[in-house]
Amino acid sequence: MATVAIIGTQWGDEGKGKIIDLLAEKAQVVVRFQGGNNAGHTLVVNGKKHIFHLIPSGILHDSTICMIGNGVVIDPAVLIEEIEKLEENGIQIHKEKLVISPRAHVIMPYHRALDVAREARKGKGKIGTTGRGIGPCYEDKIARSGIRMEDLLDVEFLLEKLKSLLEEKNFLLEHYYHQRPFSPERIAEEYASYGQRLAPFMDDVSIRLEEAKNKGKNILFEGAQGTHLDVDHGTYPYVTSSNTISGNICCGSGIGPLAIEQIIGVAKAYTTRVGGGPFPTELEDPLGSWFREKGGEFGATTGRPRRCGWFDATMVRVAKRINGLTSLAITKLDVLTGLESIKIAKNYQHNNEKVYNRTPSKITDFETWEPEYIELPGWKEDIRKIRRYSELPKEARNYIETIEEMMEIPVSIVSVGPGREETIVLRKIF
Ligand code: GDP
Ligand code: IMO
Ligand code: MG
Repeated sequence: MATVAIIGTQWGDEGKGKIIDLLAEKAQVVVRFQGGNNAGHTLVVNGKKHIFHLIPSGILHDSTICMIGNGVVIDPAVLIEEIEKLEENGIQIHKEKLVISPRAHVIMPYHRALDVAREARKGKGKIGTTGRGIGPCYEDKIARSGIRMEDLLDVEFLLEKLKSLLEEKNFLLEHYYHQRPFSPERIAEEYASYGQRLAPFMDDVSIRLEEAKNKGKNILFEGAQGTHLDVDHGTYPYVTSSNTISGNICCGSGIGPLAIEQIIGVAKAYTTRVGGGPFPTELEDPLGSWFREKGGEFGATTGRPRRCGWFDATMVRVAKRINGLTSLAITKLDVLTGLESIKIAKNYQHNNEKVYNRTPSKITDFETWEPEYIELPGWKEDIRKIRRYSELPKEARNYIETIEEMMEIPVSIVSVGPGREETIVLRKIF
C-alpha cells in the first residue's frame, strides 16, 4: 500500500493531470481534495485528449475509484456534463467508480455572477479569475452560509435556505453590481434535479478512504492549481481561494496527516502563469511567445494565453518546503528542445543579499526582488521518443541534474510529451 500526493509547485498547469493518469495505472483510488472547476487537467491517452475539471484524472483506468472530497467546490452541472461525456466515450460512471462527498460545497449561479461582476468592477487590478464562482463559493463556506451537496437532496430545505441567502445576494447583485437578481424557486428546482442525478454517488469520502487504506490499496491525492496560488502561501491576493498545498489534503478529504507517504511536486521545465499577479521570470518578448506556441500554453479551462518564463528555482524550493516534497516530476522538457541556451533563476537579489528559499510576502515587494540567472547549454535532438534517462542528450540530463541539485530532492519522473507513454520514470512510485 502507498499513498502519494501530486502537487503543483508553480502557478498551476504544471501537468498534474498527466502525472496522475500515469500513476493511476497502479492506484486503486484517486482523490481531489480542493479547488473546483477552475482546474483543467489534461490527459492524452492513445492520441486522444481529455480535459477534466472536476472528475479526478484517474477515471480512464478501469479499476480506479475516483473520489471528490469535502474540500472541493462542485458546480453540479459541470460535473454532470463530465460524467455524460465519459459515458458517451464508453466509460460507465457508477457508484463504484465515482464517490462524491455530501459535505462538498456547491457552486451556485449567484457565485458565478458575483465572481464575474467583481472582476469587471476591479478593472485593471483584477485577479484574472476563471469566472467559475470559486472565490464566492469558498467565502460562503467559511461564512457558514454555503449550500452543500447533501442539501440538494432536500428540496424544501434548499428552498428555505435559498430564500434567506438570496435576500443579501440579490441586494448586492442588483444595487451594487447592477446585475439581475436570482429566483430562489428556480434555483431550487434546477439544483434539486442535479442532486437527484448525483445522489447515487454521494458517500462519506473519509470512511471510503479509510476502508481503502485498510485494504492496502494505493491512493493518489490529486492537487489542483499550484503552491503559489495557495490562499495563504501564494502570491496573495493573486491566488485562488483554497489551500492548494499538501497540508490541505487532510482537511479536504478527511484523513490524518500521517497517512500521506510520498509528496511529488510537479514542475514544468519552465514556468507559466495564467491571470494577474507577479511573475519575476516572465518573458515578455518573442521568446515568451515562442514558449507559448511550442508548449501549447493556452488555458485548459478558459483558453486564455498563459504567460511564460524561465524556471524559477526559488519558487520551487519554497514549494518543496511548504509541501514537504519527497521528489519532483519535471514536465514539458521536450518544449525546451531547440534552444541554444536555457536559463534558470537560481535565486533572488534583494537588498544586496542573495535569497534562495523565500519569496516576499508583500505583493508590491516583488518589484524589487530581482531574479539572478545561470545559463545552461541547450540541445537540438528530439527527445519525445526517449524512454530511458541515460538516452537523453547530455545537456538535457545536465538540466535535470542541475534542478535536482538546486532542490536537494530527487527527480522521480521526467515527462517528454503530453502522451501517457511519453514519460521517463526514474524511481519506483508504487
Ligand atoms: P494541469 O492543470 O497541471 O493538469 O496541467 P494542464 O493540463 O492544464 O496543462 C498542461 C499541458 O501540458 C496539457 O496540455 C498537457 O497535455 C501538456 N503536457 C503535459 N506534460 C507534457 C510534456 O511533457 N510535454 C508536452 N509537450 N506537453 C505536456
Ligand atoms: P490547474 O488545476 C492555473 C488562477 C486563475 C487566477 C487565480 C484565481 O489546472 O492547475 P479562481 O478562478 O481560482 O478564483 O482564479 O487562479 N487559477 C489557475 N491557474 N491553473 C489552475 O488550475 C488554476 N485555477 C485557478 O487564472 O489567476
Ligand atoms: Mg490546468
